[in-house]
Amino acid sequence: MIDFNQFPSPCYIMEEELLRRNLNLIKSVKDRAGVEIILAFKSFAMWRSFPIFREYIDHSTASSVYEARLALEEFGSKAHTYSPAYTEEDFPEIMRCSSHITFNSLTQYERFYQQAAQEGISCGIRVNPEYSEVETELYNPCAPGTRFGITSDLLPDVLPEGIEGFHCHAHCESSSYELEQTLVHLEKRFSHWFKYLKWLNLGGGHLMTRKDYDVKHLIGLLKGLKERYPHLQIILEPGSAFTWQTGVLTANVIDVVESKGIKTAILNVSFTCHMPDCLEMPYQPTVRGAELGEEGPYVYRLGGNSCLSGDYMGYWSFDHELKIGERIVFEDMIHYTTVKTNMFNGIHHPAIALWTKEGKAEIYKQFSYEDYRDRMS
Ligand SMILES: Cc1ncc(COP(=O)(O)O)c(C=O)c1O
Repeated sequence: MIDFNQFPSPCYIMEEELLRRNLNLIKSVKDRAGVEIILAFKSFAMWRSFPIFREYIDHSTASSVYEARLALEEFGSKAHTYSPAYTEEDFPEIMRCSSHITFNSLTQYERFYQQAAQEGISCGIRVNPEYSEVETELYNPCAPGTRFGITSDLLPDVLPEGIEGFHCHAHCESSSYELEQTLVHLEKRFSHWFKYLKWLNLGGGHLMTRKDYDVKHLIGLLKGLKERYPHLQIILEPGSAFTWQTGVLTANVIDVVESKGIKTAILNVSFTCHMPDCLEMPYQPTVRGAELGEEGPYVYRLGGNSCLSGDYMGYWSFDHELKIGERIVFEDMIHYTTVKTNMFNGIHHPAIALWTKEGKAEIYKQFSYEDYRDRMS
């Protein structure tokens, strides 16, 4: 159990033991299926914890020049990089920091391939299987008109020289059964070209650390794929699965206001600044010790301390009246949450910390006025 008194507030606190549990499972899938599983930085980039990751996995995936540099300098290995579009300005640094580079279009490939090949970098292209079960449009990479990946009708019969890999990302918090269907579509449309390739990257969205995920089924699928195409190295690049349910965001009640019978507890954190996916998705986070819903005597909205009118969520039912100063704990606030925060309104940014397996608080980072000021000019 985290000893919250050892941490500042607000604070993102990741639990080492929970992280290691996820890493163990991911490593066992990697070993049993004979595939490579790498960490997608877009979901998680708390680099002080990277030494823990390196005990289990060797590589990471970057979606920009800064993520690629973080891979090389902090993860300690070159990145598998994919970005929707590279610029001339960034490409030399992308090459310095990457072992694999995936292009989103044939135009991008033609523009940069020669340079990458000269550096001995393994190049690939992103393909669109035109199939995804992701229902939220915001997270569906295969929705009609998508800007991601090449459809099979636009690929020449013989692949352009030097394309060694295909990259296909079509999932989001998905099950192995969705992967099974995606593979059917991917193979139907693209297996014709597999003979030219060395690797196949199946993207992210494989939520193998979720309680109900059928890990055996996933391993079976991956082994089957390898049997069908033994020359291909299979790569998975999940993000969420690594830090799924590994930590919390703590906050405090700083006021309780009431309007038209609706009570809102105002916190020293903000949904729009510190939990943006809650409003974007939207999804309702779990609050420790409270039930979702409007039943009961102590029902509250929780409100952020920004001036955005919509910076609140509701409703939660508590078993007592909320008091100023008391602690509120939001569950599962590590993956994506920590990488997407901002300093809108100049609000205090939560500290970032680890609760070690020995039961100690390791404060990775506390933010100051200077962090806010230096972003602005
Ligand atoms: C290309 C690509 N790879 C990997 C990921 C990681 O996905 P997840 O965090 O859902 O596993 C994403 C997420 O958007 C992505 O776009």
